[in-house]
Amino acid sequence: MSPALPVRPRRLRQTAAVRRLVAQTRLHPADLVLPVFVREGIDEPQPIEAMPGVVQHTMDSLVAEAHRCVEAGLGGMMIFGVPEDDAKDATGSGADAEDGVLNVALRAVRDAVGDDLVVMADLCLDEFTDHGHCGVLDAAGRVDNDATLDRYASMGLAQARAGAHVLGLSGMMDGQVGYVRQALDEAGFTDTILLAYAVKYTSALYGPFREAVESSLEGDRAAYQQDPANATEAVRELELDLAEGADIVMVKPAQTHLDIIAMAAEVSTVPVAAYQISGEYSQIKAAAERGWIDGDRAVLESLLHIKRAGAQIILTYSALDVANLI
Ligand code: PBG
Repeated sequence: MSPALPVRPRRLRQTAAVRRLVAQTRLHPADLVLPVFVREGIDEPQPIEAMPGVVQHTMDSLVAEAHRCVEAGLGGMMIFGVPEDDAKDATGSGADAEDGVLNVALRAVRDAVGDDLVVMADLCLDEFTDHGHCGVLDAAGRVDNDATLDRYASMGLAQARAGAHVLGLSGMMDGQVGYVRQALDEAGFTDTILLAYAVKYTSALYGPFREAVESSLEGDRAAYQQDPANATEAVRELELDLAEGADIVMVKPAQTHLDIIAMAAEVSTVPVAAYQISGEYSQIKAAAERGWIDGDRAVLESLLHIKRAGAQIILTYSALDVANLI
């Protein structure tokens, strides 16, 4: 005799079609933003060893990638510039120079895609400083918050002039959103969108990115990025950025901070993004290369978790691959 079981959750899992019907979370290419690297002074795209499938682009290959993003219907592209070593200095002057690699790239991509793709610029000094920190240093060698804000304002203006739709404030300086917003407003760039890395935890998983941007950093960023031990502080950071005029707030890394993404989705009155960072990407790639996991499935799963937690927008190095899978 079969047991009396009127309630059978398995009914809704029996076929792919039923599962599709009841799926609560779906990935869409428009959710996804592809982070890309453009390297000054190279003729051919350069593979990044720690990030299989990701390259440092030339200007030409970057523009071609932007066209692929448009065709795939992606939400956007986040551009990181990698200057030549001898272009780095203590204040990161390549960051706001009109002929700095990132500003040249923004112009080229914007010329190519117009408004068909949301063009985003990383707004941080770390790629451009010879010491590799996200800000300028004071006499004691510490990152000087307030002096850095002036550099960010100047960088933000250069990026807005170069055509960036969105500025991604990733440096974790106090007051950066409000300060850059004011500088943009005063210069008439009232439409430039600010994506605040509101909650950015320090992490070992940034390792592959530092190879990608040929980072000069020695030591870590624990004096300005958040301590992963803390959750309440994330609410504080988020509320500050909202008050300072952030248009989108981001949590980073993503999959190790799903609780924080869920919290952000509750607290935030603007869209919440999450960044699946380099180490998250590379862990999946490495295991897949060894045949230990199915890479495509693992990536799709990871992005689904991030979206289910509450992130509406996801930055991922797998954006183009995933757009073709879904
Ligand atoms: C700072 C910045 C970093 C990343 C994005 N913006 C590096 C850092 O904080 O050290 C990391 C992204 C990744 O690991 O994929 N400009």
